[in-house]
Amino acid sequence: MPQIENDQELRGETILEAAGVKRVFGRGHNAVTALDQIQLAVPAGSMVALKGRSGSGKTTLLNILGALDEPTEGRVMLRGREITGLSESEKSRIRRTEIGLVFQSFGLIPLMSAYENVEFGLRVAGAPAKDNREAAERALERVGMKERMKHRPMELSGGEQQRVAIARAIAHQPSLLIADEPTAELDSKMGLQVMRVFRDLVSRSGMTVVMTTHDPGMMELADHVIALEDGKIVSSQTI
Ligand SMILES: Nc1ncnc2c1ncn2[C@@H]1O[C@H](COP(=O)(O)OP(=O)(O)OP(=O)(O)O)[C@@H](O)[C@H]1O
Ligand SMILES: [Mg+2]
Repeated sequence: MPQIENDQELRGETILEAAGVKRVFGRGHNAVTALDQIQLAVPAGSMVALKGRSGSGKTTLLNILGALDEPTEGRVMLRGREITGLSESEKSRIRRTEIGLVFQSFGLIPLMSAYENVEFGLRVAGAPAKDNREAAERALERVGMKERMKHRPMELSGGEQQRVAIARAIAHQPSLLIADEPTAELDSKMGLQVMRVFRDLVSRSGMTVVMTTHDPGMMELADHVIALEDGKIVSSQTI
């Protein structure tokens, strides 16, 4: 897999960078500054956890880093290329090829099996159909869910569902995985399983993971923990 080899080569270099990022929602009296003066450099092949109180700006920052939202000011670079200020179609292309997204609520389609969910994700992303079966099965194997791939979400535990959602997010082999509170709906044992999957993707594929969490136990498993307060980075700690 050429992209995986590439990612291994990039390990340690800055893969994701934010410079002077500010995000204001609304206008005039209703304006809310959700992020301000954000400077960030994420090394390739590392796992970064964002922490901070509710409303501190974690989701807003993840959405901007994941090319889902545009900052009001500032720039974001992914693999040395600016991803801010691009057209919607360019951003969508970057999301489909270079970024994987994981959410708190899994977002699986109930009537589809685990395999079909992952394969459908690839089809939506426009992957060439002939490789989809292999790519979907490989992704399910990476998260330890290949044996259960014929099961529907309802027949799986929360942790297993989240692992299927991760398989869907990595099936196209992105270099960056963005995860917004991926363990928030899981008990600590299942949360740890999910964190172990992230760690494995980082160490074996050189993937870069940027996630948010409220759980100090999960933060311990990251390489770097960045704290946000009122939209600003107040500390950055290497574990
Ligand atoms: N679309 C929006 N319109 C207006 N304000 C918004 C919007 N999205 C977020 N905000 C505001 O921006 C601030 C940061 O929100 P954000 O969702 O990033 O916080 P968070 O750290 O992810 O919180 P939580 O831990 O509850 O998920 C909050 O004050 C929020 O109300
Ligand atoms: Mg949030």
